[in-house]
Amino acid sequence: MEPFAAIFQNALNFKLTTVSIREVMLLEFAPCDIFVSDGGPYRIFFYQGNTISSDAIKELLHSGSTLLFVREESYQNIIALLQESLSKVTRALSIGNPLENAKKQMNLLTICLGHLYDSPTDDQKLNLVFQSIKNLVSFLSKNPKLHFEIYRDYQSQKHHFIFAQPMLSSIFLLGILQQSRLLSPKEIESLFLTSYFKDLGMSAIPIEKYNSPVLSKVDKKLFSKHPEISVDLLSGRVQLAPSYLKIIENHHSFSLLGTGDFNPEETFDNFIGGFETMIVSTSDIIAAMISERPYRSATSLYDALELIRVLIAESYPTEFKYIVHYFRQFFK
Ligand SMILES: [Fe+2]
Repeated sequence: MEPFAAIFQNALNFKLTTVSIREVMLLEFAPCDIFVSDGGPYRIFFYQGNTISSDAIKELLHSGSTLLFVREESYQNIIALLQESLSKVTRALSIGNPLENAKKQMNLLTICLGHLYDSPTDDQKLNLVFQSIKNLVSFLSKNPKLHFEIYRDYQSQKHHFIFAQPMLSSIFLLGILQQSRLLSPKEIESLFLTSYFKDLGMSAIPIEKYNSPVLSKVDKKLFSKHPEISVDLLSGRVQLAPSYLKIIENHHSFSLLGTGDFNPEETFDNFIGGFETMIVSTSDIIAAMISERPYRSATSLYDALELIRVLIAESYPTEFKYIVHYFRQFFK
């Protein structure tokens, strides 16, 4: 390597930050030089202004180069462009090809949720995701026949489960609520938002740590507090009535009912039961169980519903039947 080239490479080491291929593939063009490194020197793969073509993305995926780099100061431009794309597709969900729009919007939303988890006190990021979810739930409510196709496509994108889980559990929640016809459209919208944002407090722990089945003592403690942290982060910043924030606060108390982990003396004071908490929690448990994790494979739907039967069938026999019916139909 030429001496100047070596100096240039060394200087890059200090100036570059990673950008995921998921972020890059959702851009139409490169707002800055985007580098790749295959263990050797960095080289520019996309020059500033280059179109991000699907062929180029395929080439990167084929060579296993899924970790890309940009200069630190340029990463903010990428975030801004992705946010702009999300706003644009959110405003025009029903125009053109609604199915493709919804798929794109959900991918952008998931990336922007990641940015929000990186800086959960950023109002602009929170408002963008909140407004986008509002539009999405309105679109999905009007298009129940698209849910399965959307779900399948979304699962195939293999987003990190921390960011995918809120979307998957909220789609199930919407489906169950629409079929059971127990709530008004406005209540369904609020509950969808509740479900989507209930785990924002998990941002207190670096996301990579969730890849392991075991958290450190400190992280475990933080994790157990994530419902409270979510409420703290959302209070006064989004349009969710206090009763919905209460559901967020209690969204895990419910799931402990009927399991060995539930200690009535410890948690009963804080436990708010009720249909809404139960249904948010149930959708969350099923979505998590039937999806793969880095440290375990997916559970069968049958086993997931069996756990739900143990948890709720006695207190909510009719609702349990709705849930079983919904999932059987959905995966038929
Ligand atoms: Fe949670």
